[in-house]
Amino acid sequence: MKPLGLLLVGLLVINQSIGVDKKKFKTCSQSGFCKRLRDFKPERSQYVADFTSAKINENYVLVDVNTVDLKSEQKAVLDKYVLKISSLADSTFRVEMQEVEPLYGRYTPMLTLDGAPKPDTLTEVSKSSDKLVLENSKGHRVEVYADPLKIEFLDLEGETAVVMNENSQLLVEVPRERKEHEVFTETFNSYHDSRPRGNEAVSLDIGFPEAYQVYGIPEHTDKLNLATTTSGDPYRLFNMDVFEYELDSRMGLYGAVPVMYAHSPKRTVGVFWHNAAETWVDVVNSADTNVVSSIVNLVTGGSGRRVDARFLSEANAIDVFVLMGDTPGDAFRQYTTLTGVAPLPPKFSLGYHQCRWNYVDENDVRGVDENFDVHDIPVDVIWLDIEYTQGKKYFTWDYSKFPRPLEMVGNLTAKGRKMVIIVDTHIKREKGYFVHEELTEKGFYITDKDGKDYEGWCWPGPSSYIDFHKPEATKYYTELYRFDRFPGTTKDVHFWNDMNEPSVFNSAEVTMPRDCRHFKESAPEGATGLDSYWENRHVHNEYGNFHLRGTYQGMLDRTDGKYRTFLLTRAVFSGTQRFAAVWTGDNMAEWSHLAASVPMCLSLGVAGISFCGADIGGFFKYPDAELMTRWYQAGAYQPFYRAHSHIETKRREPWLYDEASMKLQREALRRRYTLIDFWYTLFYEHTRDGLPVMRPLFQEFPKEEAVFTIDDQYLLGNKLLVRPVTASKARSVPVYLPGKDTGTVWYDVDTYQRHLANGYIDQPVNIAKIPVYQRGGTIIARKERVRRASSLMADDPYTLIVALDSDNTAVGTIYIDDGETFEFEKSNAYIYGKFEFNGNELSYSFIDPASTYPSRSWLERVVVVGLRAPPRAARLQQAARSDPLHMTLHEGNGVLVVRKPGATMTEPWKIQFSY
Ligand code: NOJ
Repeated sequence: MKPLGLLLVGLLVINQSIGVDKKKFKTCSQSGFCKRLRDFKPERSQYVADFTSAKINENYVLVDVNTVDLKSEQKAVLDKYVLKISSLADSTFRVEMQEVEPLYGRYTPMLTLDGAPKPDTLTEVSKSSDKLVLENSKGHRVEVYADPLKIEFLDLEGETAVVMNENSQLLVEVPRERKEHEVFTETFNSYHDSRPRGNEAVSLDIGFPEAYQVYGIPEHTDKLNLATTTSGDPYRLFNMDVFEYELDSRMGLYGAVPVMYAHSPKRTVGVFWHNAAETWVDVVNSADTNVVSSIVNLVTGGSGRRVDARFLSEANAIDVFVLMGDTPGDAFRQYTTLTGVAPLPPKFSLGYHQCRWNYVDENDVRGVDENFDVHDIPVDVIWLDIEYTQGKKYFTWDYSKFPRPLEMVGNLTAKGRKMVIIVDTHIKREKGYFVHEELTEKGFYITDKDGKDYEGWCWPGPSSYIDFHKPEATKYYTELYRFDRFPGTTKDVHFWNDMNEPSVFNSAEVTMPRDCRHFKESAPEGATGLDSYWENRHVHNEYGNFHLRGTYQGMLDRTDGKYRTFLLTRAVFSGTQRFAAVWTGDNMAEWSHLAASVPMCLSLGVAGISFCGADIGGFFKYPDAELMTRWYQAGAYQPFYRAHSHIETKRREPWLYDEASMKLQREALRRRYTLIDFWYTLFYEHTRDGLPVMRPLFQEFPKEEAVFTIDDQYLLGNKLLVRPVTASKARSVPVYLPGKDTGTVWYDVDTYQRHLANGYIDQPVNIAKIPVYQRGGTIIARKERVRRASSLMADDPYTLIVALDSDNTAVGTIYIDDGETFEFEKSNAYIYGKFEFNGNELSYSFIDPASTYPSRSWLERVVVVGLRAPPRAARLQQAARSDPLHMTLHEGNGVLVVRKPGATMTEPWKIQFSY
């Protein structure tokens, strides 16, 4: 063979040695229900509603729906269903449909909703045999058509925004008792799934007239705006441990959040497919496919755009929430109103986290911790991966390597730092291991299809998994986090729940067999057989949430609810945000993976999960200095900031790189810390408004079509625009500055250079440059004295960056509290302050005047950028104080620095400018 041929073969071999093994995971056509339902395309829907029976209550309507035999002349009824349409607070509807008397009962997710959704009124506008029209208190209408069944949701202008079953793909498979000759079993890669209930899948098509793009349904590795799926597989939502996952893929991954948003310059709406079973989602964007219908649509006065989606689930009921928007922010909030927000994180968790699989012993931990100080690099948390345990038995320490965990933790906390340690989902089946013995004795394990404790294979070898659906099992688990049950931990030890899809190495698709059994609390009394338990197929995507809820509660209980906690998870489902932060799993030290961290976190963010990050540096492989530096820079502006690496990779703490790279990495880390109060304020505001912390551009600029597909840059709150450099040897990057129509101004945060929004600029970058822009009209508080951990900066003074809009005004907020307890909730111990600049005056006042916190921070500096006419003098007014202030001008008089106002943050103040 010629040398070139050899080289090619070599490259192929190398390429094959790293990358996902697709054979382990099903394609749609290998998944019985996905193939069956995807092929189901009747010309006409056989579902027919009967409005004579419609029972309208104050908040919902119940309608009989039948499937009819379209071939028989009398349209003989085949199966009977009940359709429920509810009106919920905040412009939301819920559509549920299932058999009148389901043979086995259908599973509804138990932890997704943050309490029962609040009802809104539903009134009947009109009713005939063909059509039923309903309206909520805001004036959104629902039009239900009888034959065939079709449901339209209208915006406030009376235009159809969401339509269900227009393409006749509504289907609720009715399980029947297995007849002797029938085979229900399915096999994949020699794994058998007994499927004892046979076919029980559901499907529904949902159309979004006028939509330009759809977003959401994380977790996938492709773009933020979802692609048309006609030429490949649908997007898959099934929690799995996908080793060496590939990019630009619609394969399932660790997490599944079945919420989708449809956006056009006119409106944004959303649908939340409330189902924990494996789900596939097809998307057809008319812009990609349907030229003819686009033209027809245009001629009839529409935009010519439309997106059609179709949800297919292996089991459970049809249960869909419709979020009527109408702005992106409204739709995102409507989703978090249903599923909850992230609780206010302890402040340290917004700092930098240093992790590795593994810091091998106490000396190693001490060395890493000390090196941060030696090199003057801030860090808040050191992490321990699975090797700290005795043989992967969680809630134990390997005392040969970690003989004095309390002392180790004490060394960190003495410097204001914390520790996070891992607790995986699997439980080692080993005689003498107290957790295993107690769980076995109490009967708290998930059982296999025959009712025996299920045994799979994970890190510890033979393992079992807790059946959290049993309330007593969850209670048992929460108590494992008590300090007396887990010696060596303190309130400053926080947790990381991993492998919670759950990962099972020796089972189909590396996860739990679908026919494993979970406890069914709602089982009819005395039920035996299939109605007495849920199968994993029904609850699968929600399993991680059960684990997280147990951990979260356990961590709260161990301090009697005094301290806030930090928890990280890999498995994700709707509602996860109420318990844990999320990271994007085992990525690679490659530029493409750095770039992918942005759309991945953006799409989790719009799905309620703001506290998101990717392993800095990449988990597999080794990042060279340039990639590592760029990753630190990008991560500094992503919500969860943690470096992590695989056990077999070379060590890569910042000081192990050359001096120049280490300094650049340190600089990126320091920038994170200067903005620590900005991050904290953003997360606080998320608890109040339910909006993403890290935002896609279309959220803030919903009418600007050019931004609908931008996912390599984003906004933090509504204030900072970030465009990380994600390519090697970049000399410049294109940055889109939105807001042309509204005269938006952007300021480069390094130079204060002013840009009037006008689409793309070419931003020159050297290796030190992180393209970040502050939006004109905003005020951001920074802390310029970076210390070795965020807790040590609590009393430090603020610098305010006042970035003026074209009207010479700006506003901003600040949130301050003790950073770690619930006193902000229990006794109003916080400050939520507002800064306002109107040209003549910068004022600081309290948004919640009833709250107070004895902050020792003070105002050290005010930087006003974008000034047109500089003031002559400035004076601070606070309580009895009235002091003249020193000012200097920079950048051709466009930047004014007011020095040492010295105002406290515990009382309102004003700085008055005279011209
Ligand atoms: C898989 C996780 O994704 C990874 O981050 C971790 O290091 C390993 N499990 C070992 O615990």
